[in-house]
Amino acid sequence: MSSENHKIKVGVIGVGVLGRHHARLYKASENAEVVGIYDVVPENAQRVADEFGFKVFSSPEALAEQCDAVSIAVPATMHHAIGMQILKMNKHVLMEKPLCSTVAEAEEVVKEADKRGLVLAVGHVERFNPAMDFLEKQRSKTRFVEAHRLCSYPPARPGQHPRGTEVSVVLDMMIHDLDLILTMMGSEIERIDAIGIPILSKTEDIVSVRIKFAHGGAANITASRVSSEQMRRFRVFQDDAYISMDYGKHTGMVIKKNRIGLANKEISLNEKNALADEIEDFLRAVRETTETGVLSLPKVPGEQGLRALKLAVDIIDNIREYNDRYGFKFT
Ligand SMILES: NC(=O)c1ccc[n+]([C@@H]2O[C@H](COP(=O)([O-])OP(=O)(O)OC[C@H]3O[C@@H](n4cnc5c(N)ncnc54)[C@H](O)[C@@H]3O)[C@@H](O)[C@H]2O)c1
Repeated sequence: MSSENHKIKVGVIGVGVLGRHHARLYKASENAEVVGIYDVVPENAQRVADEFGFKVFSSPEALAEQCDAVSIAVPATMHHAIGMQILKMNKHVLMEKPLCSTVAEAEEVVKEADKRGLVLAVGHVERFNPAMDFLEKQRSKTRFVEAHRLCSYPPARPGQHPRGTEVSVVLDMMIHDLDLILTMMGSEIERIDAIGIPILSKTEDIVSVRIKFAHGGAANITASRVSSEQMRRFRVFQDDAYISMDYGKHTGMVIKKNRIGLANKEISLNEKNALADEIEDFLRAVRETTETGVLSLPKVPGEQGLRALKLAVDIIDNIREYNDRYGFKFT
């Protein structure tokens, strides 16, 4: 589908760090035509418009009116309000992660998309990593996952929260790993044991959690946005294999036991391709839905964004109950 007639008309709402990449990748896609962009901070919109030659719209509605589909890449606390507004205009939505900042909001967004037969995709970009297909197929063999996602505190900016700190680090960063783990475990959660503390923001900045699954699998996950070290590592221990992914270094390794010993295979982790693949998958789902009149699901549909959010919120509740029980107060 490369003819001009078949191009999906898209817009991007919120063109900060991630939204700029959405707009750039739509522009590069032969399957999309960028109608324009909108940002509540006009200078942000203008900067991206000057870089890529996009038209700037004065409101989300004015932009969405002319689009078939919209990417929403505003801070998480605004996902619900803008998402509902755009869905009610009957436009397909690619929502950055987390789907929303509360479960009630996310349920409403999923219901609205469902009712209208619209594509609702969620930006859990690491699902597009090729190693995930392998891990999903082998889910019954996964015994233990160890995930680390560490970065330094984002810089202050006038009049706004530092990037991502509107919400707990569980919703901002750990949710990527939660989505991956839920996808590859495919089992009910039996127990959550979490610890977390706010350090520089008003919500948890560092969190460590251990999750036990009903089928016996377990995961240890750490996320911190107050680290002097940068790290994004994800390691999976299976009955007969060890899979290690280092997103920071863009390298991955599968070590498998076989009859003669151990076999090593390198895997490549190109995040740039992952976001482009996510965008192409969204465009495919929109095109198929439009052509057939039957909803075609994206790789990460709203229900799965909701599933990851529910676990994230259970972890936050677990942390806060623990802190309350011991009278821990953070100022
Ligand atoms: N998938 C990923 O790997 C990934 C990585 C980082 C961020 N994100 C997600 O992307 C979203 C944006 O994060 P970011 O890092 O780009 O943040 P950012 O602060 O760089 O960009 C957010 C932009 O939204 C604009 N904005 C704020 N309120 C708005 C509103 N009501 N209407 C229109 N524009 C508005 C801001 O002016 C800013 O330009 C968040 O949901 C975040 O969780 C995803």
